Amino acid sequence: MNIPDATRAQAQDLLAFIDASPSPWHAVDTCEARLTAAGYTRLDEAERWSLKAGDRRYVVRGGSSIIAFIVGSQPAATTGLRLIGAHTDSPGLRLKPKPAEDNAGMVRLGVEVYGGPILATFADRDLSLAGRVNVRVPGGFESRLIRFDEPLLRLPNLAIHMNREVNESGLKFNKQTELPLLLGVSEDGVKAEARFREPIAAKLGVEPGDLLTWELNAYDTQKGALWGVDREFVANSQLDNLASCHAALSALLATQAPAATCLCAFFDHEEVGSESATGAGGSFVTDVVTRLAACAGLDGEDQRRMLARSFFISADMAHGWHPNFPAAYEPCHRALVNGGPVIKSNANQRYSTSAETAARFMAICEQAGVPCQQYAHRTDLGCGSTIGPIVASRLGIPSVDVGSPMWAMHSIRESAGVLDHGYMIAAMTTAFAH
Ligand code: CO
Repeated sequence: MNIPDATRAQAQDLLAFIDASPSPWHAVDTCEARLTAAGYTRLDEAERWSLKAGDRRYVVRGGSSIIAFIVGSQPAATTGLRLIGAHTDSPGLRLKPKPAEDNAGMVRLGVEVYGGPILATFADRDLSLAGRVNVRVPGGFESRLIRFDEPLLRLPNLAIHMNREVNESGLKFNKQTELPLLLGVSEDGVKAEARFREPIAAKLGVEPGDLLTWELNAYDTQKGALWGVDREFVANSQLDNLASCHAALSALLATQAPAATCLCAFFDHEEVGSESATGAGGSFVTDVVTRLAACAGLDGEDQRRMLARSFFISADMAHGWHPNFPAAYEPCHRALVNGGPVIKSNANQRYSTSAETAARFMAICEQAGVPCQQYAHRTDLGCGSTIGPIVASRLGIPSVDVGSPMWAMHSIRESAGVLDHGYMIAAMTTAFAH
């Protein structure tokens, strides 16, 4: 398989993007660093905005959702907006507010299951902690990002000698009693709580007692890799959906002086239903779009003209055909890994795609010179959803659900195609100019 150097470089850059982003807060921080390096400046939701053609700006809500945009050169009422959405969160394990527990000589950290991870994949991994911590400072508190690079935690498997049916029945965990993560041996006279707080306090340079609250992920410290006989695949955690964030951001950063205003909107909380102030079900995207229109001096009539001419691409990963499990797929809708971007359709509107928006995305792919595929879930299996229907119904604009095909969605180690990532960046770059 022939993979162009530029495509290979995009896949390597994707792996670096994910490795820098072990939590949704880090993902936004990574986006912010790339945006500012490209001349984008931050807007504050609490201040008045003023924008003019060509402005490159971004706005962050709640530390884990971000909208970045470049203001188009033509009147918004006649061009509409070009919007690509994705999500910053991934399913996994989150520490509880008071996680530390001494259990017969071992310190364990209690976790909640965030979204729908494949729990068995978290066993025997070199896990560590990443997220953010609120620390006491004079007059209040301050929020700090934190990540431990070294493996701090583990969920050891139970030996097959005590779990004889594991290969026939699968690896199952009781979520309350069998998922706590091992942190260390408890020491005489040292409370489990102190064993947990000390490394965090040391890393942040504060007193253990000044750690107030935290949002901490267990993440896999293993870096991303290329694999396959021609290194035509990528493996990493969080490909769903940081691969879509990376593709959309790369497309935005490649866009110079567009006619229409182009936006990337990356939301937290997709994996738990999007209903939050920072999620796609909140007001973030409508607030930003309304303010863009206000800055452009559009009255109510022109705002609606703008929306009527807009297009939204909801980008989230798709299920790639797995040759070992043919019965899991709809036989006429096999999306092949490295076969190109996938248009996802569902008559019950679990995806926002219509025949018309699918055709529009096909035309975009054709113009970009990339292949594209169509996916429908098996009729006898429940279909997942995305931010697509949520944002489309909030904004009332035409919308399509697309994604790169991948394997092992919601595993801690997912995989996807090198070519697909390059195709997706090319299609999105074309969409911003379309
Ligand atoms: Co997803």
